[in-house]
Amino acid sequence: MGPTRDGTDVHILRKADRATEGGDPSGAIAEYLQRHEARGLLRFITCGSVDDGKSTLIGRLLYDARVLLDDQAAALVADVAHTGVNGNGIDFASLVDGLSAEREQGITIDVAYRYFDTDRRKFIVADCPGHEQYTRNMATGASTADLAVVLVDARKGLLTQSRRHTYILSLLGIRHVVLAVNKMDLVDYRQDVFEAIADDYRQLATQLGIDHVTCIALSALEGDNVLERSTHMPWYQGPLLLDHLESVVVDAPRAAGAFRVPVQWICRADQDFRGFAGTVLAGSVAVGDAIAVAPSGSASTVTRIFSGDDDVAQARPGQPVVLGLADEIDISRGDVICAADAPLATADQFAANLLWLDPQPLLPGRPYWLRTGARTVGATVSELKYQIDVNAQTHLAAKSLECNQVGYCNLYLNEPIGFEPYAQSRELGGFILIDRQTNATVAAGTLDFALRRAGNIRWQHVDVDKTARALIKHQRPRCLWFTGLSGAGKSTIANLVEKQLLAMGRHTYLLDGDNIRHGLNNDLGFTDEDRVENIRRVAEVARLMVDAGLVVLVSFISPFRAERKMARRMFSDGEFLEVFVDTPLAAAEKLDPKGLYAKARAGELRNFTGIDSPYEVPENPDIVLDTQKHDAETLAGMLVRALEE
Ligand code: ADX
Repeated sequence: MGPTRDGTDVHILRKADRATEGGDPSGAIAEYLQRHEARGLLRFITCGSVDDGKSTLIGRLLYDARVLLDDQAAALVADVAHTGVNGNGIDFASLVDGLSAEREQGITIDVAYRYFDTDRRKFIVADCPGHEQYTRNMATGASTADLAVVLVDARKGLLTQSRRHTYILSLLGIRHVVLAVNKMDLVDYRQDVFEAIADDYRQLATQLGIDHVTCIALSALEGDNVLERSTHMPWYQGPLLLDHLESVVVDAPRAAGAFRVPVQWICRADQDFRGFAGTVLAGSVAVGDAIAVAPSGSASTVTRIFSGDDDVAQARPGQPVVLGLADEIDISRGDVICAADAPLATADQFAANLLWLDPQPLLPGRPYWLRTGARTVGATVSELKYQIDVNAQTHLAAKSLECNQVGYCNLYLNEPIGFEPYAQSRELGGFILIDRQTNATVAAGTLDFALRRAGNIRWQHVDVDKTARALIKHQRPRCLWFTGLSGAGKSTIANLVEKQLLAMGRHTYLLDGDNIRHGLNNDLGFTDEDRVENIRRVAEVARLMVDAGLVVLVSFISPFRAERKMARRMFSDGEFLEVFVDTPLAAAEKLDPKGLYAKARAGELRNFTGIDSPYEVPENPDIVLDTQKHDAETLAGMLVRALEE
């Protein structure tokens, strides 16, 4: 704790703990509400390239605004003697870095959030590292900010990184930007340098639809125009940085919109009361109001509203509340409670903007998790429409997105979600994509609109089903999925297995990679993206054939775990058997039945599996066929016997 300029205590808070269920009921509700109350608060983010002086600027704000912990301030001054880092002898950057190091101990926070108040306002600043690989953190910080401070070095002007960050700010709906032209001391405080950069930036902001841009000429190191007006730049008549942050009016929560509360936490206080906790995003609610729940569509009436320490009659936008309802309806975390007369739209297919954040590129067709608010569903990018050049704001043809690239795509979800376009609601239209294997956040995105076809395509009921079709064939439909390197022996064994099954009177079909690539998949090559699509299509075909009552043998390299898992999920339990044809690379290469390994080694064939394209060995195959121990006939016999059992 330390004194602010007006002498009140300031709190540099740890990241709020996540609310957990259970515990002391009334205390838990009060605590939840207290923690989420935020009046007169400005959330802002600082961004810029490395060395633009971000840490120094934040340090300067915190130090000059006297919001530091006393001992930290003392430590800083003590440091002066040793380091002598600048004119004032205080290394503001080390202050900020030190704070974040301390805060990050034991917990992973990509973004360092600092809380401080002055006598006029409370602030939460998200400090995001400027290296390119940290674009992810920048997007995280920006997604909750009202305003952004974009720093540029007066000597360098706008860099690609400044443009990229501004693009992301616009994508994430930030309408207020402060362009801090820093290090003015190093350009002799020249007005023409400042004006040229400010003009450049205003032009960029206009293109991107950022309405409010304030350009400030400053030196964080020397303190010019941060809190005190600079004596070096009499030509600068604009606002000082802190004054501007203290007085800027950012858009208030949408009082006008229809009532919406995303359910963050369900509180089972006692047997008679279940409370639904969340912050009112828009509109207001009163006891007695009729509500609907998205995406389920269930309806009820509000019976109680807790806010602060009390039962209240109504709640306004921005207010954290716990609602009690008249009916025992099914509501889970991530559902949205809305006004019954203006329910939230639901859909499972969208057009969306995507900012790719992972070193592994986007693979259209691969299943990811999509998280929006507190809800997580399965999602696939069904089509990448184009990539966006963030420098020129033009569209580029693309099949994939690399780390830090931005694109526009169609998304397909496993189940519908309640949503609003991001332009209307950041909370109900923003999302992230998560890798299913590593749980890493791989992309941030914004929902643009629901594809109309989502609403117009329904499942058609058919009377003859899989069970009926299987019954007259006297068999259990199955999918035998053979995976392994090229030349491992998949097709040879699958062929023998099919012959034996046929001899036993089974109805079968063999889908073989080379054959399918002559027809259905003749538009696909061997890039990662094409292989993902290759497997997606053949898995869909295999599913239809199993639905037709057949025993289907699929013989594809299918090199990626993610797609084999995706295929498995398309079938019922026990219907899908992953058969790993285990032939080491050296053995397959030695046989080289088609001469392809030789070509690949000679550099005449690119992206060859096992050579310059990966094969991910199955982790839990249902059956392993060891081709080093047994010949194909024996292995086929073993597989058929295993099936019969
Ligand atoms: S998969 O990786 O997308 O599952 P698929 O099983 O359809 O591959 O096709 C593999 C067959 O294509 C191989 O058996 C081989 O005959 C041929 N082929 C041609 N080029 C390649 C390549 N670059 N990598 C692997 N197989 C290739």
